Amino acid sequence: MPEAGTEEDVIAFLSRQHREIRDLFTALDTATGIERRDLFRALVRLLAIHETAEEEVVHPEVRSLAGGGPVVDARIGEERSAKELLVTLDDIGPEAEGFDTLLLQLRDDVLAHAEHEERDEFPLLRKAHTPERLRAMASTVKVAEAVAPTRPHPGVESATANLLLGPPVAIMDRARDLIRAALGR
Ligand SMILES: [Fe+2]
Ligand SMILES: [Fe+2]
Repeated sequence: MPEAGTEEDVIAFLSRQHREIRDLFTALDTATGIERRDLFRALVRLLAIHETAEEEVVHPEVRSLAGGGPVVDARIGEERSAKELLVTLDDIGPEAEGFDTLLLQLRDDVLAHAEHEERDEFPLLRKAHTPERLRAMASTVKVAEAVAPTRPHPGVESATANLLLGPPVAIMDRARDLIRAALGR
């Protein structure tokens, strides 16, 4: 992942995360064993912080814009069902029967959702705000990155990383707290 430069605005940052999410799904297609578990943990973490950042920072902004309400309502509905699927997948774990089918469903849902954001929602934000404002919003969404890494130290086994990271809802709660603190809420 490239060092996030000060010039990257919130739309560029979130679109880059969309590509990283898509790449993780692609890598999961062929991964097995521990690698598959680690990739799934990375996906859980990235989806949790990404969607939380959008819910806390982007959606409220777009909702306040002309024509933004229905666009945001549709995106929140998509995020809700993806979140439920993510929680189910995390509960059953990559070894479970049926995991692969649900993972494909999650991939289709999440990638379609990201496409809708880039097509219908982000342009409204781009039109409404100055480049400076969009860059400031990037700084806010980036604070969510401070939730536990998937691997705290090289060589630390996955089980330890999983404990530090916790289930999706716990990651989302921590990301939300970090963002709200940054916003002074
Ligand atoms: Fe989203
Ligand atoms: Fe997104």
